[in-house]
Amino acid sequence: MSEPIAICRYPDIAQTPELAKEIDAIFFEASNTKSFVSDDARAAFRERWLGRYLTHDPALAFLARTGDGTVVGYIVGSVDDPAKAARFSDIGYFADLAEQTERFPAHLHVNISPGFRNQGIGGRLIDRFVAAAKTARAPGVHVVTSVGAENVGFYNRNGFSEVARAGKDGRLVFLARTL
Ligand SMILES: CC(C)(COP(=O)(O)OP(=O)(O)OC[C@H]1O[C@@H](n2cnc3c(N)ncnc32)[C@H](O)[C@@H]1OP(=O)(O)O)[C@@H](O)C(=O)NCCC(=O)NCCS
Repeated sequence: MSEPIAICRYPDIAQTPELAKEIDAIFFEASNTKSFVSDDARAAFRERWLGRYLTHDPALAFLARTGDGTVVGYIVGSVDDPAKAARFSDIGYFADLAEQTERFPAHLHVNISPGFRNQGIGGRLIDRFVAAAKTARAPGVHVVTSVGAENVGFYNRNGFSEVARAGKDGRLVFLARTL
């Protein structure tokens, strides 16, 4: 039987350097980008997909933890429309998705440690994020992933459907769910 995993709100956990390290380890393991030209480039990459959400939207961040408090997964996101909020202007593909992000402004990033995937933890984190986004009165939520990626099935089963394609050669898919 798999070990029981609890989902908690990120702001409820003591913010220690160890906690940051655990979350970062999951982020970098799950990322497709594995090498960086410099430490600054690595830090900027972390800031873009993880750090700024923890800083700016801690109430929308949740952690999955084992009984001894080890972090095995996280979800972060925002309810702000990324095509309109200046802090997301570094993500090029949103310029072409403004119509869609207006309907589905909330967006999220979820990652689970390899040994804990396929146990429904990602789905539980999505449920918590969705509840928080609804409380914040977001009309819809989206994710952007690659066409044909393994996680598309996961998002589909969690209520996200394809709304648009984006990026160079349409290799990105915008999946969305009404809240
Ligand atoms: C995608 C992910 C968050 C889902 O969390 P989870 O707890 O494994 O999800 P659940 O147990 O609720 O659902 C399992 C589904 O996750 C997906 N999944 C499982 N392992 C995966 C992996 N290594 N990479 C991508 N998706 C994966 C599959 O769609 C699987 O569905 P299936 O049983 O039909 O194959 C998690 O597997 C993960 O972190 N994967 C790697 C990183 C990633 O793709 N993150 C999302 C970035 S957009």
